[in-house]
Amino acid sequence: MKDFDLVLRNAALYDGTGAAPVAGDLAVSKGRIAALGALGRCDADDEIDVAGLAVAPGFVDVHTHDDRALMIGDMAMKASQGITTVVVGNCGVSLAPWVADRAPPPPLDLIGGREDFRFAKFGDYLDTLDREGIALNAACLCGHMTLRVGAMDRVDRPAELREIETMRARLGEALDAGAIGFSTGLAYRPSMAAPTSEIASLAELLGPAKAIHTTHMRDESAHIDEAMDEAFAIGRHAGVPVVISHFKASGAANFGKTKHTIPKLADAMARQPLGVDVYPYAASSTVLDPEFAAEAPRVLVTWSKAEPSQAGRYLDDIAKDWGVDRTTAAERLQPAGAVYFAMDEADVRRILSFREAMIGSDGLPHDSHPHPRLWGSFPRVLGHYARDVGLFPMQEAIRRMTSLPADRFGLKGRGRLLPGHHADLVLFDPATVIDRATFEHPMQPAAGIDTVFVAGQPVWRDGKTTGAKPGRALRRGAFQ
Ligand code: ZN
Ligand code: CU
Repeated sequence: MKDFDLVLRNAALYDGTGAAPVAGDLAVSKGRIAALGALGRCDADDEIDVAGLAVAPGFVDVHTHDDRALMIGDMAMKASQGITTVVVGNCGVSLAPWVADRAPPPPLDLIGGREDFRFAKFGDYLDTLDREGIALNAACLCGHMTLRVGAMDRVDRPAELREIETMRARLGEALDAGAIGFSTGLAYRPSMAAPTSEIASLAELLGPAKAIHTTHMRDESAHIDEAMDEAFAIGRHAGVPVVISHFKASGAANFGKTKHTIPKLADAMARQPLGVDVYPYAASSTVLDPEFAAEAPRVLVTWSKAEPSQAGRYLDDIAKDWGVDRTTAAERLQPAGAVYFAMDEADVRRILSFREAMIGSDGLPHDSHPHPRLWGSFPRVLGHYARDVGLFPMQEAIRRMTSLPADRFGLKGRGRLLPGHHADLVLFDPATVIDRATFEHPMQPAAGIDTVFVAGQPVWRDGKTTGAKPGRALRRGAFQ
């Protein structure tokens, strides 16, 4: 019997806690970290000298829409960034539980068509992930919008009592099956008619289950203060930690607002459990909504069912070609998706610099010309914002991608280099790591990410995925 399955020699070990790197070796056995430090001579199936490279816990992408992507692909867009766990089901949008009896309304259509919403129970979805095999680990949120379309004949009104009961029953079932929490997307049409009381009565189930609530707030621009207050109130009512999704200040009239909203968040954090995630770009992306488009100076079309050839073009150019105004063009492209250039770089940097900010890509994996955050978020924080701009040290960037999200989302046995923890690992070169995805060419793997392991198995190596599927659906509370 060999001592270990794998030994990585002469690494710069970043343990995920924010501590400075330490030179040493790391041994893996049976999918777990077996030993760390100066290991001396030992017997291993495989031994790799990784001198010059950093070894860190695999990154956790806390904000994704990879619900279906996990089932159909090799997750190259995430593995190539060093990501080993994705949190799916954000913004109120989850693939389960709903057996669709109609076309999913936007933005549910961002993750699939009618035939893809085929899980009556959340547990069926989790079981399918495990049975069919996934490349990366998935921690899964149950979406409010999905519950709404499943329980209501129309979603442009508050839910009635019996509909809330149906939603509560399905959410309860999801939590029993291992959903890590419940998400909302209150800025979107299928959810905006839901009053605070509707969310609060669903969130009540989360506290006793020790689950989490994530929210794409009702407003990220003029009325962000009220939207934050609503999120905090729901958290206090339900006794549950709340994560504010893709924190931002949107629209030119709101530039600079983070000078006030970050201290407001920090202040609330002193009184109740809260978290926050951010993606490192000054442009957002979601469905193409003529109303959102009216507020953004520039809009890039990411997909269009009516006019597929227009993906990758600017809305103004399309409108000009067609001899129509922007709103008419946006309507003609429906259903469609877009990138909105409506944030200030200074706000983005201020949020990134906040100690509690986790990194979430919010990438949209089914877009034909996606926002570059899908392929670039994590290497951009490491290479651009930490190393080149100097917002924080490399070890701090890594902490926001590892131990911080593992703690916030209750991912046991992950997020730190510790003996006994899962061998979810990333090997990268701190001197060269950088995002290469751009708004023009968004589907480019990053530079400087060497090898990525999930449960001790390589999923990314030599610039490509390996085809291995060692990932698991991470059920809440389980150290698995
Ligand atoms: Zn969102
Ligand atoms: Cu999102």
